[in-house]
Amino acid sequence: MPVMSAVERTFCRNPLWGAAAARLVLPRAVRGARLGGDVLEIGAGAGSMAGELARRFGDIRLTVTDLDPVMVGSARRRLGDRATVTAADATALPFAHGSFDVVLSFLMLHHVVRWEDALGEVARVLRPGGTLVGYDLLDTAPSRFVHAVDRSPVRLIRHDAFAPALAAAGLEPTRVTRALAGSLIRFTVTKPEGDAP
Ligand SMILES: C[S@@+](CC[C@H](N)C(=O)[O-])C[C@H]1O[C@@H](n2cnc3c(N)ncnc32)[C@H](O)[C@@H]1O
Repeated sequence: MPVMSAVERTFCRNPLWGAAAARLVLPRAVRGARLGGDVLEIGAGAGSMAGELARRFGDIRLTVTDLDPVMVGSARRRLGDRATVTAADATALPFAHGSFDVVLSFLMLHHVVRWEDALGEVARVLRPGGTLVGYDLLDTAPSRFVHAVDRSPVRLIRHDAFAPALAAAGLEPTRVTRALAGSLIRFTVTKPEGDAP
């Protein structure tokens, strides 16, 4: 089972990242998104984004998952009873079809080597009309350089591969944009109404 490198674990659990995630990254990442009901964050790391989500959206029912047991332990300690924290591979989620109104994916798909399979699982666990909201690193020279020193499993997302992967998963792009000098992809994606739950 692939787990994160010491570099990634340190990054995700660093208080500086926690503070940046809460004050800067999370507000931008969910701007304009309608968050309510049953919300799942996949690859949530140490729960930095989830902690701020729980603070801002107190009425959501939040489930948080990650593959790496060290991250799961950190997220449990950080979130306490504000979220259900579960160890889970994003490519094989332990939830029934149509369990969630919203799925969140922040900076994690590129670590799921088969990230297309994770999109398929997102489509399966979303309710019809539900949304996937997130952002990730694209396959650019700076990202390749950063990951060359990191031993974590990684397959960076090619921009032209994202839309076909969404279509293959049965998801429809609502808003997909590039940000940060083209190094990031931001996405709001919908599971069409009328699809089987
Ligand atoms: C760069 S960290 C981002 C963590 C968190 N989303 C954040 O923004 O702070 C990437 C996370 O993805 C997780 N991850 C990698 N592969 C995964 C998989 N197949 N399923 C679930 N989580 C995975 C890692 O364990 C790690 O915690």
